[in-house]
Amino acid sequence: MTPARMYGVRVVGAGSAVPERRLTNADLEQLIDTSNEWIVQRTGILERRVVDPNKESTRTLGTLALTRALDNAGMQASELDLVILGSVTSEMTCPSTACMIVGDIGATPAGSFDLVAACCGFVYTANVADTLIRSGRYRAIGIIGCDTLSTIVDYTDRGVCILFGDGAGAAVLVRDEDPTIGCIYQTMNSDSKMWDSLYIPRRPQDVPPGHEACESKLGMLRMNGREVYKFAINKFREVIEDALAKTGLGVDDISQFICHQSNLRIIEAAKEKLGLPDDKVFVNIDRFGNCSGGSVGLCFDQLWQSGKVKHGDNIVMCAFGGGLTWASGVWKL
Ligand code: ACO
Repeated sequence: MTPARMYGVRVVGAGSAVPERRLTNADLEQLIDTSNEWIVQRTGILERRVVDPNKESTRTLGTLALTRALDNAGMQASELDLVILGSVTSEMTCPSTACMIVGDIGATPAGSFDLVAACCGFVYTANVADTLIRSGRYRAIGIIGCDTLSTIVDYTDRGVCILFGDGAGAAVLVRDEDPTIGCIYQTMNSDSKMWDSLYIPRRPQDVPPGHEACESKLGMLRMNGREVYKFAINKFREVIEDALAKTGLGVDDISQFICHQSNLRIIEAAKEKLGLPDDKVFVNIDRFGNCSGGSVGLCFDQLWQSGKVKHGDNIVMCAFGGGLTWASGVWKL
């Protein structure tokens, strides 16, 4: 049997979408016992965007982001073979939100599925899409990272609600004859030992002993911020060191390190430990908060639209999140 030919993967367009409604630190001061100073000092966040649940959702933000990415690519939705959505706030268990988005953008009968990897949503999605295209089985894939965590955050829990915002980032990837472009190195990992540091219980039996068994809080995000923080501080450094070592690239070869916007202190700590220059580590958490699966895609689009990442550049994407999961992707654009 002839071995399958390997192709390259070209990013041809990007797009993003955030809700109009801003939730500022001053707004949160009215809801819970907190202060602008505490939030800024502990997280770097000034404001975040939150959906109006009567008219916005993961489906509408994801649709808008992917439509913008297709426009940016100069492509029709009908040219897509597949749409993958990385999200923990899909609307129904079945059908997938990606399936609804395929219908909404006019990409029928493209395939679709939702992928659950929490804040790693966009990085996992990009890695999977690259692998599917590279194999030669698919030609064009729309990827989306999108979460609307404001719909499942407990706004009485001050350790959690200050952190999250809603947003979506999308990109269109197509097959290319040059096998050296696309994702040149990737990792996707998980470890369930700390699953209950960040979870969304559905049923009473999902709540482990020692955790608050409040039925009215089923379906809401629960997080032990301190535990996740400790995990994240080390993981960012580890995945970036690994990505550089395995590809033989140095910091000078990378135009941008696009890290999940978890908390400004986590990003700053990784930057300091690795000696990364400020202008190579994009930050937008101040204006958008932690957008979970939407975070890295939103950053990518803002960098792409501003020309700070472009064809010919090498970039590193990395994230960590619920699961716990962590992932990286080194891309030659
Ligand atoms: N305002 C004022 N005080 C607060 C607030 C608040 N909003 N929240 C907590 N505090 C208090 C606590 O009660 C505690 O007081 P105590 O010492 O008297 O008990 C004190 O501040 C310190 O609390 P910590 O929880 O230790 O605060 P920390 O510095 O860890 O910051 C934070 C909390 C911002 C949540 C941080 O832990 C964090 O960012 N963790 C990582 C979160 C993350 O990245 N999650 C993963 C991605 S999300 C996903 O995958 C869906």
